[in-house]
This record gives sequence, structure tokens and C-alpha cells, in this order.
Amino acid sequence: MGNDTPLGFSTRRDFVRTAIASAGLLAAGGVRVLGAPKPPGGGTRNPLNIPPIASPNNYGLTAAQTVVPLGGGKTSSALAYNGLFPGPTILASTGNTATVAFTNGLSEGTTVHWHGMVVPTPADGHPKDLVPPGASYGYNFPIIQRACLNWYHPHPHMMTGEQVNLGLAGAFIVRDAEEAGLGLPSGDYEVPLIIRDANFDRSGNLIYNPRTTGFVGQISLVNGTLDPKLNVDTALYRFRVLNGSNARIFRLALDNGAPFILIGNDGGFLEAVVQPGQIELGPAERLDLLVDFRNMPVGTKVMLKCLDAGWNLLQFEVTRQVSVGGQVPATLPSISKLSNPVTTRFFSFDGMSKINGLEYDINRTDFQVPYGQTELWRFTTNGNAPHPVHVHGASFQVQSRTKGRGTVFPWERGWKDTVLLQDQETVEVLIRFDGYRGLYLIHCHKLEHEDMGMMSNFKVV
Ligand code: C2O
Ligand code: CU
Ligand code: CU
Repeated sequence: MGNDTPLGFSTRRDFVRTAIASAGLLAAGGVRVLGAPKPPGGGTRNPLNIPPIASPNNYGLTAAQTVVPLGGGKTSSALAYNGLFPGPTILASTGNTATVAFTNGLSEGTTVHWHGMVVPTPADGHPKDLVPPGASYGYNFPIIQRACLNWYHPHPHMMTGEQVNLGLAGAFIVRDAEEAGLGLPSGDYEVPLIIRDANFDRSGNLIYNPRTTGFVGQISLVNGTLDPKLNVDTALYRFRVLNGSNARIFRLALDNGAPFILIGNDGGFLEAVVQPGQIELGPAERLDLLVDFRNMPVGTKVMLKCLDAGWNLLQFEVTRQVSVGGQVPATLPSISKLSNPVTTRFFSFDGMSKINGLEYDINRTDFQVPYGQTELWRFTTNGNAPHPVHVHGASFQVQSRTKGRGTVFPWERGWKDTVLLQDQETVEVLIRFDGYRGLYLIHCHKLEHEDMGMMSNFKVV
């Protein structure tokens, strides 16, 4: 690692101290960030980076520090998978097997977690299975779930926030036969968008300066590109969107007022196409959405914005007239509903570092869940939200949200593995572990909360 990279909090106390010091620094304006503010929709924009595609079959994956391009001739030191920021987009089909030979080229331990993938415990990247610097680890698992967008990122004990923030993340796309039958846009018309915030030091290198309330970046990146732009044809596009931020929530919208054509989220397709005008997307949540440029004249510019931050995330410019396939599906695959839970479990997300009053202990198993049993899990918080609640080992179906925002949003239907919990809210989900027995995690995906201990081990038995 470079000396100016604040890696390696060895204890929670170190983390908290650094976080508080950083907060002071930010308040004093001590951290300068890259680039001047851009005029709305204007300025020079950089071509959007599209990570190369890789198959997970006999695949070699290395995490190491490197220098990556950010667009416009700017570069940054980063932690990267196979030298890429974000990492390669891994593409596989249901029924394939992933055999990933991972090498840790970092100067500290790490693991690779396949967020959203239902995998056996030894392949889940649990912090117990730390891969020391210089060591290798085989992540082997069959792909047993339906088409969806998942992602991979580090999950080491108390160091997840820094490693993800400094660049380690990539998309993992699963395909299946149902998806193939829908006639969705493909090839150049299907584009992954990993959206996140970031901070940079005076020399323009990514810097991790967390606060206990969560890392707040001053600059947005899409696929690692600063001020990105995508030239599009007069066609229907499919965007596979991931909020890759440590803590930031995006409220996505298009500046031409057109609604999104939303077809899927964390666990694959929704049951029906919906057209929300804006979408609130918490850390680790995903979207599968279509944008229709077919009737736009060449020269039209459309901006993907975050309404909450007032950011221009990605500019589309229609540059070529074509007549190609790709359609908005009339129907989407049906989803079998979980029902009749036999147990209710309560999870209170307390403060910034506890679940049900307990800080994470890597060696403590907090509860056991019978394999194949449908359960109702109720998430509440006594403050310091938002807490994006994430579960390993299974997806869930959101049943209700009471108080707070008081509703289940259209982008929260279907199968989810991460759900946003705001102050005052109670969110109920139905969940059933029918993948594997073994050790899994539930945690807050605000990575600073996770690192401070808002995480719990459980066993599927
Ligand atoms: Cu994306 Cu346990 O994490
Ligand atoms: Cu996960
Ligand atoms: Cu939290």
C-alpha cells in the first residue's frame, strides 16, 4: 500500500479515532477533492468505463494495489481485482460452476464475498476464512439461482469498508433460460453501472476517510469513471445498476422526466414491469432497468441524476440512428411467494455497532435457523439509521414497512438480499434458507457500521 493510504485499522478503537479525526478534517475543509464542480449537464465528460467480461470457470482473480485510470487522463492508486477498477464483470449461467483461484496481493488479509450468491459457507468469504497477504484460496461453488445481478467484494474482519472504498468490487451477472426468452437488450445494449461516491487526496488518489456515521464521498464515480458519458444509439438499453457506495443512498432519476422501466432488483426479475419516476437505492442494492432512447433524435442528451445529492451521475448522448431489436417484456417470470412462517425473529439495529444489543464477535454464533423453514424476520432500529440490512445465504421477500416511509416500494418487491431501514421503521421480510446448511451473516451494509460490529453470525442447521 502507499504510505498515504490510510489502511489497516487494527481495532475498532483505531477505526473510531480515525473516523472522528477525518470528520474534523472534512469539516475544516482539509481534504481537497478532485475536479471543479461541473456546470449542470455540461463540461467535458469522459467515456464511461465498461469492465471486461470474465467467466468464473477456472478463473484467476488477484487483489492488489495498482494505479487505475479515472477518465480524462486522471489516475488514482487503488486496490483492484486483476488490475481493474471496478473488477471484471463475471458472467455465468445457472447450472455453471464457479472455480475461482484467488490470490491476495494486498499487504493485509482479505476475503472475497459473492454478495447475493447462494454459496456454501467455505465459498462465502466469511471473515473467519481470512486469506493472508500472499496466500491463495479457492472459491468453488455451483450457480444454483436464477438470473440476477450480484457482486463481489472483500469481507475481512473490520476492514471491509476501507478495502471496498479503495476499489475492490465487481459485478457478477447470472443468466438463465427464462431471461433468454424475454428478448431483452443485449450486447452493447446491456451495460453495468456501478455507482458510488469517493474522496481523493491532494495528489488525486482515492482516500478512505470514514466517519462513524458512514463514509461520505464528495465525488461520484460510475464504473470508476469521473464525470462519465455514454454515447447511445436510438435503441432500448438495459442497465444493471449497483449502488457500490459504503454508506450513500442515491435517489436516481432521469433529467428528461421519463420514468425508469424497472424489471428487476437484487434477486432477479420483478413479477411485473413498473415505471417509477425516481428510485431510492441504498448501499449494495441493485436494479435492472430499461431506458428507451428509440424515439429520441440524434443529439439528445439525457442525464442520470441523484436528486438527493444534486449530482449528475452519467450523461447519455444519442449519437447514432439504428433500428435494432430489444423489447420491453410484456410479462416477467412469476415468483413463488413465501408464506406461513413458523417462527418470528427480531433484529434491533442498535446505535452504530450492535444488533440486539451485541457487537459482532467472530467466534460467537447468535442463532440457528432450521434449513428449509420459512421464517418472518422483523428489523427495527433505535436510531442512527439508515441501516441497509443484508443477509447472506438466502434472499428474502419484503412483506411490510411500518412507520417511517410506511410502504414497500416497487423496487423492493420480488427477491431481495438487502433492504433499507430508516429511523423509526419496522421492516418485515419472509426468508427461507434452502441453499446450504452452514455459517452465514446478517449485517448492516453501511460498511462502517459493519466494521464497527453491526453484524451477527448465524447457522443454518
Ligand atoms: Cu455485500 Cu456481507 O456483504
Ligand atoms: Cu452478502
Ligand atoms: Cu447501520
